Amino acid sequence: MQILQTPAEMQEHARALKRSGRVIGLVPTMGFLHAGHVSLMRLARAQCDELVVSLFVNPPQFGPAEDLDAYPRDFKQDEALCRQAGVDAVFYPKAADMYAADASVWIDEDVLSGGLCGAARPGHFRGVCTVVAKLFNLVLPDLAVFGEKDAQQLRIIERMVRDLNFPVQVVRGPMVREPDGLAMSSRNKYLSERQRKDALVLRQALDHAGQLVGQGERCVRVVRDAMIAMIEKIPGTAVDYIDLVDDQSLAPVDRVERAVLVAVAVKIGAIRLIDNDVLNV
Ligand code: PAJ
Repeated sequence: MQILQTPAEMQEHARALKRSGRVIGLVPTMGFLHAGHVSLMRLARAQCDELVVSLFVNPPQFGPAEDLDAYPRDFKQDEALCRQAGVDAVFYPKAADMYAADASVWIDEDVLSGGLCGAARPGHFRGVCTVVAKLFNLVLPDLAVFGEKDAQQLRIIERMVRDLNFPVQVVRGPMVREPDGLAMSSRNKYLSERQRKDALVLRQALDHAGQLVGQGERCVRVVRDAMIAMIEKIPGTAVDYIDLVDDQSLAPVDRVERAVLVAVAVKIGAIRLIDNDVLNV
């Protein structure tokens, strides 16, 4: 397994692979890998000749008051997991090599980024789109896998690829959960034992929404209120947002009449967790 540390090295390597006709698969990550990331690698592995995983905590996608410095990092463990997963090359750049100090070109998505995490984290998706576009230019992937855990991010990347004609096939990777239902996340490591139990309420609230809709409830306000009540019953939790939106356009809906994405962001103490589900009627 090769470890490539600079953008120039990465691009050079990718160009050589392309010249020899290899199909390149990319899994972009911010490291601190878990079984969710590994499932994306497996998916990519099955569809490419050369599997590249990027490990890069991308500063522009973090707000000034967010956890950039505290974001967990463990290169040795990530390297071992990548080896086990049959990764061919790890791209592990430094922020100073990825962004010129006077970088001034950014990619903004204007519609899908408006709500959910985009509203809660201004500038976040601008940072995500820009780094993913840069990774596409450096790794030259034929396909790239993104997880359904970050439902809004996935739809925005699909839109960016469509609207900017990137020659990349975006593959959706199913959400991976802990056995008790908690969505796997690098940030779970910060939860205390008590908070780890409390965090199950995200999944429970999503299940409750599914049950209500299954029983015929169609009014989004009723479903949303029931979810909020369930979460706020637990001391120390604060709902950042709970939204039911059209699964394609991410526009808010009043009634559940077609595929609806239910997306939740909840703070458990200082730790912000997200989860989601798609309800089909
Ligand atoms: P990160 O949070 O490290 O996630 C990397 C990829 O793993 C994303 O596509 C994410 O959706 C997926 N993922 C995370 N947890 C998952 C789970 N439990 N099940 C399935 N997939 C999961 O998302 C990012 O990094 C960054 O924004 C990035 C795209 C790398 C740009 O910086």
